Amino acid sequence: MNSRWPTWLQINDNLKDLTPYGAPQISAAARLNTNENPYSLDQELQNAIARKITEQLAHLNRYPDRDAIELREMLANFVNQSSGTTLTVENIWAANGSNEILQSIALAFKGDALGFEPSYSMHPLISRAVGKRWISVPRSSDFAIDLSAAKTAIHSQKPGIVFVTTPNNPTGGTTQLDVLKEIAATAQGVSALLVVDEAYAEFSSEISAVTVINQFPNVIVSRTMSKAFAFAGARLGYLVANPIIVDAMLLIRLPYHLSDLTQAAARAALSQQARLKVDVERIKESRELMTKALESLGLGVIPSTANFLLFTGFKQSSEELWQELVKRDVLIRDVGISGHLRVTVGTDEENQAFISALRSIL
Ligand SMILES: Cc1ncc(COP(=O)(O)O)c(C=O)c1O
Repeated sequence: MNSRWPTWLQINDNLKDLTPYGAPQISAAARLNTNENPYSLDQELQNAIARKITEQLAHLNRYPDRDAIELREMLANFVNQSSGTTLTVENIWAANGSNEILQSIALAFKGDALGFEPSYSMHPLISRAVGKRWISVPRSSDFAIDLSAAKTAIHSQKPGIVFVTTPNNPTGGTTQLDVLKEIAATAQGVSALLVVDEAYAEFSSEISAVTVINQFPNVIVSRTMSKAFAFAGARLGYLVANPIIVDAMLLIRLPYHLSDLTQAAARAALSQQARLKVDVERIKESRELMTKALESLGLGVIPSTANFLLFTGFKQSSEELWQELVKRDVLIRDVGISGHLRVTVGTDEENQAFISALRSIL
């Protein structure tokens, strides 16, 4: 078999056929391809972060708090305030982005990994990279999880980890808590963990799975500050789970993985979390306006509770339409679902640029 890896390089077999994660990072006037928050942090918050970071500079000769206690306490408070839970530092683990959280989970726990696709492409990539078999269970034609198919697959395949993304990326819809609980119970029956990836939770009004971690100790909720907190460049993700899961994280984390600068910046952002609600509301309003604008162009939009929309109903192939938009300085995402493209909700100007570019093409 042809392989791009030379024979002298003894790369792991499970890595040989993988393709790296690679959303194109090309410059465009409207960058609507990676579900970032389009609003930069306001000046006051930037100043607060700068002050906190400056305070750390005199101590950079020392390693950071490797358990990130203060930050984890603040994350627990944030979750408690938004979900009415009574979590403590022991329920939280933090890392450099939720991708690191997901990778740590895949490293720590055994068994195959199962997910409901289309969904977040890093779940299979991370699972395979750590040597797991990936079991793909298709979603229904409306991109919802088919509960009976989910139960059958979990019973018959007996994975070690089940992934559910809600709101789902790239399709945007939510899996309701009742359905998640049924999946959690089924997973529990085969001693599997249920990882609920809630990267976009703040844009949805669905009750978070953090409210069921006491009832289902096998549930791990993965969250991030990259999206609602507009903090993608700082890299801060966290999990919410039973304390025994956090104990397992301590075994595989690299010592001092979370730098003092990252911890300080994240603490500053969390201390001013009221600001975040304003931009989240703006993004939700723009999402509705953009849905209407796409529909008025004769396109179909999958109902979304996240900060992006998956749309369909155009005559061109996804690739052709994507290219045409790039030519007009608008970058969106071809997520590999035939006849569909995904667009992140941006600023008003970016959204208008996207809609007028589309209008001129269709
Ligand atoms: C569903 C989902 N999970 C996790 C992530 C990773 O986010 P981060 O590593 O920035 O926290 C993303 C990023 O787009 C995502 O869409």
